[in-house]
Amino acid sequence: MKKVITYGSFDLFHEGHYQLLKRARELGDYLIVGVTTEHYDEYRGKLNVMDSLMERIDNVKKTGFADEIIIEDHIGQKLEDVQKYQVDVFTVGSDWTGTFDWLKDYCEVVYLERTKNVSSTMLRAKKYKILNLGVIGTGRIARRFYPETKYVSGVNVKGVYNPHLQSASDYQEMFGLEFGTDNIEKFWEQIDAVYIASPHETHVSYMEQALQMGKHVLCEKPMALSEREAKDLYALAAKKECVLMEAVKTAYCPGFQQLLGIARSGVIGAIRDVEAAFTKLETAGSRELTDLDFGGSFLELASYPLLAIFKLLGTDYEDLRFEAIRDENGIDLYTKAYFRYKNSLATAKTGLGVKSEGELLISGTKGYIFVPAPWWKTQEIEVRFEKQEQNEKFFYKFLGEGLRYEISDFVAAVNGNEKKEHKLRAEESVAMARVMEAWRNV
Ligand code: CTP
Repeated sequence: MKKVITYGSFDLFHEGHYQLLKRARELGDYLIVGVTTEHYDEYRGKLNVMDSLMERIDNVKKTGFADEIIIEDHIGQKLEDVQKYQVDVFTVGSDWTGTFDWLKDYCEVVYLERTKNVSSTMLRAKKYKILNLGVIGTGRIARRFYPETKYVSGVNVKGVYNPHLQSASDYQEMFGLEFGTDNIEKFWEQIDAVYIASPHETHVSYMEQALQMGKHVLCEKPMALSEREAKDLYALAAKKECVLMEAVKTAYCPGFQQLLGIARSGVIGAIRDVEAAFTKLETAGSRELTDLDFGGSFLELASYPLLAIFKLLGTDYEDLRFEAIRDENGIDLYTKAYFRYKNSLATAKTGLGVKSEGELLISGTKGYIFVPAPWWKTQEIEVRFEKQEQNEKFFYKFLGEGLRYEISDFVAAVNGNEKKEHKLRAEESVAMARVMEAWRNV
């Protein structure tokens, strides 16, 4: 019996998939089809798979070509499967030509001609209207943002606004956008959604305008600097049926999600302390170190530590106090925010003029979790115990700048997918604004 194996996501099952499975089956007597899990697709950087694993398996099953369906969930599995199932022929479409030649040491490798003019990507684009996104602000983060949108299907960065026309034009040119403008009315007219990456103090007013006009909003952190403003914005978004998301990238990245799952699972017992740090040395004279109202380490960097604290301990802290080292102008160079919860403690540590280890430490009654710097790009975590031999390390992918995860979730939310809203809830975002407000009132 000649055994054939093939793999794919088989999302939004189409004619190309059907033809491939048919011809794969014809290559032998028994066809095994490997269908990828959501995690593995995410790991591969395929962020927009629409159908669930069960739906995709069902669709493969319905063709009647698969004698056996297996799940593909990790890199390196293909070689395991080829040996485990004693496969004679490995096949995939011609878009992969050459990629799997190394398997020729183990079995025959066949690249089947791909069916023209159909793909899951094309179908996704047809099924969902492309989201025309505008960018407000043209600084460092905005420049990192655009390239990351290229990894997410269903979104097109159409134009950019900056009150200084030259900055808008430069950004437009840099990324080949359709327009760059200093006219905010014209900006709103041409877009469905906005990414706000302007100075902190301007966020609220842009968000209000956007939501009033029915535009979906992805806003850089800190989204708002007072609890009232944040609450009002979420209420306005709900009223206008718009998505409002705070762009704390860590919240949306896969490693951090899994860290939360492990920390809350009970392996380290009850969580009693969360210590999260983020420091970044800035050169003298930078905006961060000179803007007395809106600069300083806490406003600039605290969103990440606050995210970890609120995700792990909730937002109902009983007490909050700050300690800071300031420069002669009053700008905070190094700040610690101390939280007391009913049964636990937390510290958020930020520094622009003091460098420290950017680690996250979650201490529990049975053990602790150590996430080394840069924990906010969660790639590695270690669960540690009194008995060292029980320690365990986990590794995750964090692709590129990591902004693609928040962009992907934003597009999914606009398209009506509510399954990812738990990643950063409105109440958590509001609590961050409450802390920013408390800090500013110190
Ligand atoms: N395939 C094909 N012809 C097409 C599309 C896909 O032969 N028009 C093949 C692929 O080469 C692969 C299998 O079908 O061997 C599963 O591919 P998958 O990645 O699930 O489908 P795509 O439509 O290529 O998905 P995407 O657009 O998300 O990359």
